[in-house]
Amino acid sequence: MTDWYPSHTMVVSYPKIIQGGMGVAISNWHLARTVSMLGQLGVVSGVALEILLVRRLQDGDVGGHIRRALEKFPFRDMARSALEKYYIPGGKAEDKAYAAIPMHKQMASKRLHELCILGNYVEVFLAREGHDRPVGINYLEKIQLPHLPSVYGAMLAGVAYVIMGAGIPTQIPGVLDRFSQHQPASYALNIVGSQNGNDNLTRFDPRDFMEGDHPPLERPRFFPIIASNVLATTMVRRSNGSIDGFVIEGPTAGGHNAPPRGQLQVNERDEPIYGERDVVDLDKIRELGLPFWVAGGCASAEKLREVLEIGGNGIQVGTAFALCNDSGMADEYRKALLQKAVAGTAHVVTDRLASPTGFPFKVAQLEGSLSEEDVYLSRTRVCDLGYLRELYWKEDGSLGYRCPSEPVEIYIAKGGSETDTIGRKCICNCLVSNAGHPQIQRDGSVEKPMLTCGDDLAEIARFIPEGQTSFTARDVIDKLLA
Ligand SMILES: Cc1cc2nc3c(=O)[nH]c(=O)nc-3n(C[C@H](O)[C@H](O)[C@H](O)COP(=O)(O)O)c2cc1C
Repeated sequence: MTDWYPSHTMVVSYPKIIQGGMGVAISNWHLARTVSMLGQLGVVSGVALEILLVRRLQDGDVGGHIRRALEKFPFRDMARSALEKYYIPGGKAEDKAYAAIPMHKQMASKRLHELCILGNYVEVFLAREGHDRPVGINYLEKIQLPHLPSVYGAMLAGVAYVIMGAGIPTQIPGVLDRFSQHQPASYALNIVGSQNGNDNLTRFDPRDFMEGDHPPLERPRFFPIIASNVLATTMVRRSNGSIDGFVIEGPTAGGHNAPPRGQLQVNERDEPIYGERDVVDLDKIRELGLPFWVAGGCASAEKLREVLEIGGNGIQVGTAFALCNDSGMADEYRKALLQKAVAGTAHVVTDRLASPTGFPFKVAQLEGSLSEEDVYLSRTRVCDLGYLRELYWKEDGSLGYRCPSEPVEIYIAKGGSETDTIGRKCICNCLVSNAGHPQIQRDGSVEKPMLTCGDDLAEIARFIPEGQTSFTARDVIDKLLA
C-alpha cells in the first residue's frame, strides 16, 4: 500500500451504533470522523459531494481541509485542475453566486465525473484522517447518475462500508467488486417509457481517469437500507454480488421514508398513515443470516438492548446526530430546532408531496424555511442542480430530463403532469442551504433551507447534559451505550 491508498483495518467486530448517513453534508466528514473515533461507525453522506467540493473551495477552503485531502489524491493532474478552476483564496464575495457545474446526464462530461471522484475522495479521506477505524458512505439509490464515479472516488479513499437506501440497489455489489480491480462498470437507469433496445446504461471506466497503474482497492461491505421483508429477500436473491448486512428503517426516521403499503390513507394533517403491513418482521430478517441494524426512533439504550436481544447487531441513529454540535447542519438552524425541542414546540411533518422523488419526506417546521407555505410560494422555481430529475424517452428517441419542482410550464412541456408539480419543493437547493452553502440565484434571491429530522426531534433535548444548552456526538453515544 502506498501513501495515498490508506488501508482500513479489517473489521473484526461490528459497531453497535451506526451514525446514519444524512445528506446533504449533515453527516459530513467531521461528524463521521468523530463518531468513528469514538468506536462506532461514522457514515458520511455521499449526496452532492461534487457540489460541496466546489462550494467549499469557493468559500476559500476554511481550515485548508480540502486542499490537504487533494494533496494526497493519487491522480495529481485531476486534483490540480480542480483547484485551479474553483479555489478562491479568502472566499468569494458574499453576494456572488457559486460557480455552476453541469447537471448529471447519461453521458456526463469528464469534468463532472472528475468532480464526483474528487468530492467523494475528499469526504472519505478527511473522515478517515488520523485514526484507523472504519468509515462508511451513504447514497440514495434514486439518485442514480452520479453513482459510478462517486463510489469509485470513495473507494480510492478506502471507504469500508457503502450503505444505500431510497430504491432497490441490486446493482451496487457488482460495481464494488469491479471497482476494487479498477475495472469498468455500468449501471442500468430507471427511465420512463423504456422499451427493449433503448440504451439505458450509464458507464464508467476507471482507466479513463487513472494516471498510471494502481494496486487493487479494498472492496467495501455493502448494506442496503430496507423497509420490508420482501425487499430484504429481493436484495439477497437478485443482487449481482454479495450483501453484507441490512439497515431496517421504519417510518419515523428522518429524511425520505418508504411509502406505506396498500391503498394510501392520510390523517387530518395529510400525512400518510402507516399500519401493521409496514412493520418489518425481524425474525424473518434474522433467518437471512446477515447482520442487521434497526433505524427510526431507536435512539435509546433500551431500544439498543432490545435489538441486541432479538439477535440484531445494533441501531442506526440519525436525528440525534443531526442535532449535535458535531453535525454539518448550519449552526443557526441547528440551534433554532434545538431551542424548539427544549421549549416543547418542535414539530415534524411527514410531507408526502415535498420531495420530487414521490417518497414521503420528513420536514421539520421552522420559521423562514420552506416548511412555511408563504416562503415556499415566494420562491421562483428553478432547477439548476437536477439530482432528482426523472429520465424519460422523448418521442424523437432521445433522452429527456424533468423534475416536478422545476418551473411548471417547462415540466408540462416535457410531458409532465401539472398535478405532479403541486406542493413539490426544490429539495436539491434547500438541502445544500441547510449545510450553509446556499446558492444566490440570478434574481438575487438566496436559496432558503428546509430541514429534515425524524419524529425524534420533539424529544431530542434528552441528550443535553445538565447545565448545558447543547450536546455532542459523544453525549449521544454515551447515552445510547449507558
Ligand atoms: C437530517 C437527516 C438527513 C438524512 N438523510 C439521509 C440520507 O441522505 N440518506 C439516508 O439513507 N438516510 C437519511 N436519513 C436517515 C438517517 O440516516 C437515519 O436512518 C434515520 O434518521 C434514523 O432515524 P432517527 O432519525 O429516528 O434516528 C436522514 C436523517 C436525517 C435526520
